[in-house]
Amino acid sequence: MSNTILNLREALKHSPDNAPLRLLLADALLTANKLVDAEIEYTILLTSASANKAKIGLANVFFKKGNYSACNVILEEAIEGGMEELAVFTLYAKALLKESNFGKAVEMYKRALTIDRNYFDEELDSQLRLRDTNAFEEEDMEIDDRFLQKPNVNFDSVGGMEAVKKEIEMKIIKPLQHPELYKAYGKKVGGGILLYGPPGCGKTYLAKATAGQVNAKFISVGLNNILDMWIGNSEKNLHEIFELARENAPCVLFIDEIDALGASRSDMKQSAGRHLINQFLQELDGINNNNEGVLILGATNTPWNLDPAFRRPGRFDRIVFVPPPDEQSREEILKLKLKDKPVEGVDYKSLAKKAEHFSGADIDAMIDIAIELKLESSFVDGIPKPINTNDLLNALKKHKPSTQEWFMTAKNFAMFANDAGLYDDILTYMKIKK
Ligand SMILES: Nc1ncnc2c1ncn2[C@@H]1O[C@H](COP(=O)(O)OP(=O)(O)O)[C@@H](O)[C@H]1O
Ligand SMILES: [Mg+2]
Repeated sequence: MSNTILNLREALKHSPDNAPLRLLLADALLTANKLVDAEIEYTILLTSASANKAKIGLANVFFKKGNYSACNVILEEAIEGGMEELAVFTLYAKALLKESNFGKAVEMYKRALTIDRNYFDEELDSQLRLRDTNAFEEEDMEIDDRFLQKPNVNFDSVGGMEAVKKEIEMKIIKPLQHPELYKAYGKKVGGGILLYGPPGCGKTYLAKATAGQVNAKFISVGLNNILDMWIGNSEKNLHEIFELARENAPCVLFIDEIDALGASRSDMKQSAGRHLINQFLQELDGINNNNEGVLILGATNTPWNLDPAFRRPGRFDRIVFVPPPDEQSREEILKLKLKDKPVEGVDYKSLAKKAEHFSGADIDAMIDIAIELKLESSFVDGIPKPINTNDLLNALKKHKPSTQEWFMTAKNFAMFANDAGLYDDILTYMKIKK
């Protein structure tokens, strides 16, 4: 018996109730393949504070013994009990594989990957990932009503941004409400609209508010809802999302961070990017399906990364620049955000002026900081005091605005890759062009 094990045993004699110590011993025994001894120690630990770890240990013992059904009973119970650990899912996937339960093994491997996207296990990977996708029909993610939202915000919840609201009104809301008028003038209704601009300036927020404004249903999907490591599944998920939107028209289908659609997926060891883009374009074109009453909104911080095929007529042929809030908008955002907070004599005007280059998200952050500072000072005497201009000014100085970095990059694209005036709005905003 190795020294480690002997030493641990010796130490345990003096403090038999030391669960972490016993766990070390049990793990050492497991590693040394002393399975009978390991089982004894883990079993003792089942009633201790280390019970969860003991369960995983026991499952490992049974796995090594080749007793996969006992291993699986333990893991199944652990998962039902709410244990969400990489070690649990991966061991379970392996044990299920031994019992040829592929469907469930896939499910567990997927759950492992949701905990750690980069987890990689040669055996699991080769046996599970590239298998015929049909074998896993019932394991597919369900695209269902959970994605449907009824937004509780509308344009009133968006501070300022009058120009953008107006643009959305003309390009999005009116066409949805009066399709016949647009058709009469030979103007196309449908296709998609792309919101772009620096981070934190309200693209996501505006998309939601737009749905609320027209009283339409709202489906918001991030790319993670669509991407699936199984070949062909991402395309299928995408199709189902569009179908859900069609069934629920009038409906705003919002796809956030749309540029990521074509992004490299090297971590997934498959080049599904192109297929996914093609599928997306097909859905957008509505070739096999009717997209009437479905408004497709996309948002991106990096429109220059978007596949140019996206911008052809009928696709994202209307693009809307969502700039940082101007002074007036910042004042309104401040008022909106402080509406339900205890404040006293706040000088919104001067704050808005000082918060140059602040995005909506920056204003959120600044208010958070002010509240924290205030909380700290009220701990001293236990009396909550209202937030005043000075508190907010202090917070403002502590927060660095986040929009300027974006403009440095954007400027280059706008100046040197400004296809058909695509980014004129950026140049106008930066006063580089009238
Ligand atoms: N005009 C605005 N009015 C009110 N809140 C805003 C506004 N712009 C941004 N915000 C706030 O900032 C947060 C981040 O905005 P978000 O829409 O996620 O930015 P983006 O999608 O452009 O990165 C929102 O949740 C919202 O609280
Ligand atoms: Mg966003």
